[in-house]
Amino acid sequence: MYSRIAGTGKYLPERVLTNFDLEEMVDTTDEWIRTRTGIERRHLVADDEFTSDLAYRASLAAIEDAGIEPGEIDFILVGTTTPDLIFPNVGCLIQERLGIHGTPAFSLEAACSGFLYALGVANEFLRGGQAKRALVVGAECMSRIIDWTDRETCVLFGDGAGAVILEQSDDPGILYSSLGSDGRYRELLYASTGVSVTPRDGEGAALRMKGNEVFKVAVKTLGSMVDEVLQKNGLDKGEIDWLIPHQANIRIIQAMAKRLRMPMERVVLTIREHGNTSAASVPMALDTAIRDGRIKRGDLLLLEAFGGGFTWGASLVRY
Ligand code: ACO
Repeated sequence: MYSRIAGTGKYLPERVLTNFDLEEMVDTTDEWIRTRTGIERRHLVADDEFTSDLAYRASLAAIEDAGIEPGEIDFILVGTTTPDLIFPNVGCLIQERLGIHGTPAFSLEAACSGFLYALGVANEFLRGGQAKRALVVGAECMSRIIDWTDRETCVLFGDGAGAVILEQSDDPGILYSSLGSDGRYRELLYASTGVSVTPRDGEGAALRMKGNEVFKVAVKTLGSMVDEVLQKNGLDKGEIDWLIPHQANIRIIQAMAKRLRMPMERVVLTIREHGNTSAASVPMALDTAIRDGRIKRGDLLLLEAFGGGFTWGASLVRY
């Protein structure tokens, strides 16, 4: 028993913030942001818009694409580090809006690797026979945990959501899943407050990152993971049809493409328009390239991500 991707969807909030807008807010330039990161603009939520709103709309698009009814879903899992509330979790919030009752619905937090973690877990539930059809979402309102006075981080992130419908299948869809983490690096990338670590007076949750050091560990760790995926699946470099990487930095993505001996035309890039949307970036990139016709049924895909924790994950997928 395997699981396969039956449908995908995404949702981006309407408001767009360009690099030129950011020039008015902090000491930065469009040129610096573009050349160091590859980002030109990002979408941000409205004041009355929350992570579950983005997740709900992306889920509707994936449900429509799969040609199913919400009632046929029996497992819901959302990767997010920016949930609406402490509880109910985002899975329960979208379950209620989709009119589904009684199925397991939960969220997990693994920063930018959240979607890869959710996909890996859902795959195991389907393969183990505990569910037949899963809704797997990556959704974030990163703008809510950004310090908008910190030029080193505020230029990087955006909001959005991506979703897939994963269903049981006799033919292999998800071929291999690799997940990892290392808490020793917590000081390099974290959000400053939470629930049991309560905010000090006037201080909200703010993302803090030593970007340069994160960059080095990300390239090294992703490189080893990509090698592991090839080796464990008996694949040679160049055999993957499409790389769908987490969209954190164009230079990290280029390093991975080089390692896989893939031309950049075979790499799905959304970073220019979306920025880094954390757990939402991989499913949004996947949906983008399926909808514009680049990714076709039967193609071999490698999805990968790296984020705070540190956490990392990859999925080898026959679409
Ligand atoms: N505008 C202008 N100058 C800036 C800006 C800015 N927005 N930000 C930093 N600078 C300056 C710095 O102050 C520094 O100046 P100095 O040389 O005078 O000290 C200079 O630019 C270079 O800074 P670096 O940090 O060395 O720049 P770098 O080339 O490393 O790029 C970046 C920074 C884009 C953050 C990069 O390191 C990166 O992408 N890191 C990885 C991010 C990542 O993968 N995160 C994981 C996922 S996120 C998650 O899990 C939530």
